[in-house]
Amino acid sequence: MNLVDIDDLTPEELHAVLDRAAAIKAGREEPTLSNRTLAMIFEKPSTRTRVSFETGMTELDGHAVFLGPEDIHLGHGEPIKDTARALSRYVDFIMARLFDHADVVELAEFATVPVINGPTDDAHPCQTLADLLTIHEQFGGFDVDVAWVGDGNNVCQSFVLGSAMTDIDLTVATPEGYGIDDSVCKRAAALGNPPAETHDPEEAVADADIVYTDVWVSMGQEDRRAEKLRDFDGFQVTTDLVGDRPVMHCLPAHRGEEITDDVLESDNAIVWDQAENRMHAQNGLLVWLQEHAG
Ligand code: CP
Ligand code: NVA
Repeated sequence: MNLVDIDDLTPEELHAVLDRAAAIKAGREEPTLSNRTLAMIFEKPSTRTRVSFETGMTELDGHAVFLGPEDIHLGHGEPIKDTARALSRYVDFIMARLFDHADVVELAEFATVPVINGPTDDAHPCQTLADLLTIHEQFGGFDVDVAWVGDGNNVCQSFVLGSAMTDIDLTVATPEGYGIDDSVCKRAAALGNPPAETHDPEEAVADADIVYTDVWVSMGQEDRRAEKLRDFDGFQVTTDLVGDRPVMHCLPAHRGEEITDDVLESDNAIVWDQAENRMHAQNGLLVWLQEHAG
């Protein structure tokens, strides 16, 4: 069992993981991953993913090993499949933040322990787990309308699928040419709840209970910065756009680009709860995966 994308879980399994996360967070359950080790492979920088996984393993009595771009042979001549097979002989879980989605798919194919995507250029399922936990806490369920305003990127695509699995009513507003992949739309449709899509942020936000955004220039896209800043003109999340709606952002934020400083500093921003919930959601996931390994 892997979490390469959020729809590797069935909707029932997703709810089970979120229930475990909430129970562990509330102290109703005190599971242990004693003597279990998580390998964490990073091709890109990270604050939340690295620290939330490492701290989570500490809280669960386990251990996490940080493997940055210069620490292992991956990327310096050793193929992914060999890394997958060797690490599987030592550790109980592998989490990987890689550029190319095909690389994490290959890692999962050859590993014999659960592989968790954290994220790739195409998908960020751990973020979606935390987002869903946060929405459930704030609204007491998933009967909410969410407007995504910005890039149809990795965070958006996993959130589209997570929304489809929880019956969240999602509208995605992107500039033309920056929408979600057709394959993600088809998977959301197969789950019975595809998002509405528009190129008009105000239309997306009109009926929304929550507004969600992420950076316009994701890691690895720095050479497209000027082009993207031009193309996303009019998609900034401002006080005028959101009013007093709660605002989500996976962070890190590029203040003054996709979101204004005053929105991020306002009481409407629930981004710090989202960030904290990365750890709780992943603790639920790790415990659930441990029970469903093999
Ligand atoms: N949201 C998120 O994945 O943050 P980091 O890049 O800091 O890990
Ligand atoms: N879309 C962002 C998310 C970072 C957590 C990126 O890939 O850089």
